[in-house]
Amino acid sequence: MDKFVIHGGKELNGTVEISGAKNATLALMPAALLASGESVLYNTPELNDVFTMSKLLKQLGAEIQFENQVLKINSATVNNQIAPYEHVKKMRASVYVLGPLLTRYGFAKVSLPGGCAWGPRPINLHLEGLKKLGAEIELDEGYIIVKAKRLQGAKINFDKSSVGATGNILMASVLAKGTTVINNAAMEPEITNLVNFLLKMGAKIYGINTSILEIEGVDELHPAEIETIPDRIEAGTFLIAAAITKGNILIRGGIDAHLYAVLSKLEDAGMHIDVIGNDIRIDAQNIEPKSIDVSTGIFPGFPTDMQAQWLALMSVADSVSTVTDTIYTDRFSHVPELIRLGADISVQENNALIKGVKKLKGAKVMSTDLRASASLVLAGLVAEGVTEVLRVYHLDRGYQRLEEKLRQLGANIDRVAGQEF
Ligand code: UD1
Repeated sequence: MDKFVIHGGKELNGTVEISGAKNATLALMPAALLASGESVLYNTPELNDVFTMSKLLKQLGAEIQFENQVLKINSATVNNQIAPYEHVKKMRASVYVLGPLLTRYGFAKVSLPGGCAWGPRPINLHLEGLKKLGAEIELDEGYIIVKAKRLQGAKINFDKSSVGATGNILMASVLAKGTTVINNAAMEPEITNLVNFLLKMGAKIYGINTSILEIEGVDELHPAEIETIPDRIEAGTFLIAAAITKGNILIRGGIDAHLYAVLSKLEDAGMHIDVIGNDIRIDAQNIEPKSIDVSTGIFPGFPTDMQAQWLALMSVADSVSTVTDTIYTDRFSHVPELIRLGADISVQENNALIKGVKKLKGAKVMSTDLRASASLVLAGLVAEGVTEVLRVYHLDRGYQRLEEKLRQLGANIDRVAGQEF
């Protein structure tokens, strides 16, 4: 297991290129199973989660080629509909293969994902939706087994907006017989990217970018090509890297409309933001961040995937702020680690109360999940002395060469390989 060693205190300046969005790619890849032949995904990030999904698709029989961020998936050779525990336990998004496999082959057996570092993450909405489309569902020895001759369109109402359930039901319904309506569908940009891919494959979907999606099932789809959107969470993480180190960074390829809530909170915190075409400049030089309250919400609200990074920034802000996570109510495993670096944070239920401190001080800290790791790196960039962030394999799931990109901006950060911690 690798660790990062960070000598804090360097101001970050320069330009950073944003990679393709992890959460978009993880939906686009299984969507390629819906048509026989080779689909091509451009701007695919080189991340461990993408490698895990590739292994899973290969296990199902697909052929994968991945070079220079171009991912080719040939699904003509798919001959197996079982997603084993060894893949699903590494990455919950593996559950995305459920909808495509079921609708295309009439059968799928997918390991139940289980818990996660920040508590239970149910998939009841995915299963209830598939049931409405006519699937028979059985749970056996830790596996979900779904069967259907041909799915039938239905009206599906999600009590909660769910990215994963919307993606899964969308993929299942495009080949169903008749019309499906998804009410309270997720509107995250990654879902829009998926809808655009499905449209290119010949699907009939109405209501793109809204919370009511109507899908007219078709008999067959064809392979297609799609460009993955930029990763708004990676872009957001670099915005905070600039803010926390009082630097000045040009974020290339970030889409400001995907980051509106984060950009507006950064402006509230005193940062200067400029949108120049597809680029975003943040100037935080000589700016003491102000303490600003944040509550996470579904898109276009403040993303839960930026909560941990925001908390790191608020740890060194000028006064007192609160951070509330309404999506994942116990997603605060980064707090005890930030406290080890000198932050003053207390958590009650889904609220963190942060009293800004003048300085953080380097220490050894442990990554517990992907975004928690990012918040520790951000805190390490500003902490006095040396911070060691252990177990960065969490971070490698979702950031493409984070330490290299940070180093190019002037950070003193090194990866130390192969340590046992
Ligand atoms: C996706 C993202 C993840 C992000 C999350 C919320 C991917 C691969 N992951 O996860 O990075 O943090 O969206 O933006 O895209 N829920 C249920 N039942 C379900 C499904 C979800 O109760 O069947 C609840 C969850 O517990 C959570 C809320 O709905 O409280 C939203 O979760 P959801 O949008 O489904 O998250 P994921 O798709 O798993």
